[in-house]
Amino acid sequence: MHLPFHLANHLDSALRAAAGRLGFGDRGFEPEVRVADPAHGDFQANGALAFAKREKQNPRAVAQQIVDQLDAETAATFDCSLAGPGFINFRLKPAALLAWLAQHDSEAHLREAAAGARRGQHWVVDYSSPNTAKQMHVGHLRSAVIGEALCRLLAFNGAHVIRDNHLGDWGTQFGKLIYGYKRWADPAALERDAIEELERLYKLGHNATPEGSPELDEARAELVKLQNGDPENVALWKKFSEVSLAAFQQIYDRLGIRFDHNLGESFYNDKVDRVYRELTETGLAEDSAGALVVFHDEHPRFSRHAERPNPFMVRKADGASGYASTDLATALYRTEHFQADGIVIVTDFRQSDHFEQLFLTVGKWFAAKNYRRPELHHVTFGAVTGEDGKALKTRDGGTIKLKALLDEAEVRAYAIVTAKNAERPEAERFTDAECRDIARAVGIGAVQYADLSQNRSSNYVFSWDKMLALDGNTAPYLLYAVARVRSIFRKAGLDPAQPPTAGATPPETPQELALARKLVQFADAVRAATQQLRPHFLCLYLFELAGAYSAFYAADKVIVDDPAVRARRLLLCHRTLIVLESGLHLLGLRTLERM
Ligand code: ARG
Repeated sequence: MHLPFHLANHLDSALRAAAGRLGFGDRGFEPEVRVADPAHGDFQANGALAFAKREKQNPRAVAQQIVDQLDAETAATFDCSLAGPGFINFRLKPAALLAWLAQHDSEAHLREAAAGARRGQHWVVDYSSPNTAKQMHVGHLRSAVIGEALCRLLAFNGAHVIRDNHLGDWGTQFGKLIYGYKRWADPAALERDAIEELERLYKLGHNATPEGSPELDEARAELVKLQNGDPENVALWKKFSEVSLAAFQQIYDRLGIRFDHNLGESFYNDKVDRVYRELTETGLAEDSAGALVVFHDEHPRFSRHAERPNPFMVRKADGASGYASTDLATALYRTEHFQADGIVIVTDFRQSDHFEQLFLTVGKWFAAKNYRRPELHHVTFGAVTGEDGKALKTRDGGTIKLKALLDEAEVRAYAIVTAKNAERPEAERFTDAECRDIARAVGIGAVQYADLSQNRSSNYVFSWDKMLALDGNTAPYLLYAVARVRSIFRKAGLDPAQPPTAGATPPETPQELALARKLVQFADAVRAATQQLRPHFLCLYLFELAGAYSAFYAADKVIVDDPAVRARRLLLCHRTLIVLESGLHLLGLRTLERM
């Protein structure tokens, strides 16, 4: 019996084939397969209902005809039953559960088997994308964490993922920064913490150049020099980008992030003229008091007739490019240069209007020019708030630096890990270096997981106590579940990379069956998370899997004398291990052998 990773897909094809034999396919039958309520089965197909209604037939009779036409292998894989007005329920037979588990036997194999609709496609993911010359703060956490998880999910689905950090490295602020730098730069401070010094210099530059002052004219002159390629200013600006990237990379390292490209806004300076030309040529953009703008008259908010017209500003009245101009050029570059089939941009919800207008404009522009049209996704997320629901701030009301936040996560995790360690028998205690390593994985993992485990559209309430709790839908709970499975192998003197599972019989006890069914659902969880670009579906699944494992572990002893029972329980343990680890790795977490 060969069972594919995505059993729901397999059922979908089997049902289409069965319906085809009945001539229903030509009449628009759609199987509508979904994961079922466990009380009824593993999957259910609802398509007979809509079809029968359209055809004015009895839905139960239609469903029964389809079931009767299923191929022998599908009938051997599932127990099928009709329910309600014409739903078909499918429950995997224990032998099929065993076959699926036997075939999916390593993280690498799961990855191979999971490749699906996006196999071979090119997906550009634009995430993190902070502005240079400033430290990353808590507001930058979500884009980095969510973006990285999406990259991994898309790659798991077979896509070739291009990680692109769209740095905000261009704009009027550099005039003031250069102005401040030339007057007050402190070499020792630059040496110590360059980005902090740049922030200080920008503030000094900003305060010294109030509106209408001659100093502001000087700062503007610095900007014009930079824009015109003055070597000194260009060298300074390059230095700003370099030190910023180096500081960002320290954070990215801790979050397991490595970008393929850091193509910031400046990269598109010489690419915006083509945007102006083509949007004008195609009649999409028009002049509005000297600026070049695009209206979308079919759209209630972006139409010229809207109550407050809010056109997409392609070029400003003073001839300068802006956020919209570079993003248009960026979309074209990604399409042509990276041959993007899909582009995902991860920012907070406040940029929704911008991206809606961008995507509308790109859609019309590319259609007019006959360019390939990638799928465009703006992945948004809510704000990070404290437990009081207000923006998260330091005690004295300042912004929390991302570095400080990650440091605190490790310190807090270290306190928990060392306290637990002290309770262990002497011989089993971790060394201090081991405690620190565990605390790093648990602390950073807790921050990542807390962010990923809720629906990204909601605001995210930041709570150290909740995210570091050892029970609940948290990273420590899941990392601990991994370590616990590993300890079974260790205590039995077995190599978890080569579990002795030969001779395993199909799952039998209620807990074995429930765990096996949950394992098979990994495919559906990954699919939901990838299709909807929402990692929380995978988190919820992993939490439920860990629960099913706990129930199994509490009910069924693993290392028993009967070799067939021992083999099948070790099989369940091992597959739980690889699914939990694969899932956590997809979310960007580092898993631990012991904890
Ligand atoms: N630098 C921007 C910011 O800090 C985010 C950029 C997002 N990507 C893009 N292509 N616009 O808000």
